[in-house]
Amino acid sequence: MSRIAYVNGRYIPHRQAAVHIEDRGYQFSDGVYEVIAIHKGTLVDEEGHMVRLDRSLNELEIAWPVAPQALGVILRQVVHRNRILNGIVYLQITRGVAPRNHAFPDHHDSALVVTARHMPSFDPGQAKRGVDVVTTPEIRWKRRDIKSVSLLPNCLGKEKAVRAGAYETWFVDDEGMVTEGTSSNAWIVTTDGKLKTRHTDNDILNGITRIAILKLASENGIDFVEQPFSVEEAKKAKEAFITSTTSFVKPVTRIDGDKVGGGKPGQLAAKLLDYYAGHLDSMPSPSGKMVR
Ligand code: PDD
Repeated sequence: MSRIAYVNGRYIPHRQAAVHIEDRGYQFSDGVYEVIAIHKGTLVDEEGHMVRLDRSLNELEIAWPVAPQALGVILRQVVHRNRILNGIVYLQITRGVAPRNHAFPDHHDSALVVTARHMPSFDPGQAKRGVDVVTTPEIRWKRRDIKSVSLLPNCLGKEKAVRAGAYETWFVDDEGMVTEGTSSNAWIVTTDGKLKTRHTDNDILNGITRIAILKLASENGIDFVEQPFSVEEAKKAKEAFITSTTSFVKPVTRIDGDKVGGGKPGQLAAKLLDYYAGHLDSMPSPSGKMVR
């Protein structure tokens, strides 16, 4: 079966999908995106992603290309046409096509592209497997709260991880504090057992998984603080882990080669992954019923 993509009003074979050479996303990275997990055929935390998308678009004064409800239909169509049960749906909205001038065009027709792909289904066993992270100086712009497609520093960071045989790279600001991963949020469990993740401001992307985990923590009586932590604190922490749409909750057992938590995945990360499994299964199924 060939993959299908949505490009500006048309569902077309993925290999033929293309945008104009003067799309401002291509020339200026003048666009935003979302990655939404598909779990058992259902869009995970769709509303949260739509709220963040709306915010990103507003911050950049990019118009919605279609009404939000229509976008929901398109996302489902792409998932359905690609027969995705477990995977992701990717959407990208740019300011569209205009002669190359840095300033915004007087009028614009936003461009919308949607693709989907299979990924391995949610695996509760990942709580038992730790990953390595490495660190790198924070070289990104000062509006990391906007989910923009301007991801070159993130690509450089991820490449550093790959070359080091690690899974993720954490950005570290001028004060030595961890901001977040190249495509995930960063967490630790402090030596006195408190869950800690950086507060949200312009310095990090407020992950939808991050929001879900904080909610699950408070519902289950787990104390947390939203505060920056240093690389040194993370190395001495009881546990460390990352969260994202594609990694869910993933234990970190080494930072820059140094063991965290004795080099073993921690219990709180396992507990949170377990709660997250429940969260995934509480999503309304495509037919509107709850998947149990
Ligand atoms: N990235 N921080 C950054 C810089 C990210 O790119 C992401 C997600 C996150 C976690 O956000 P969420 O929980 O909403 O996935 C944090 C996606 C998965 C990506 O770029 O592929």
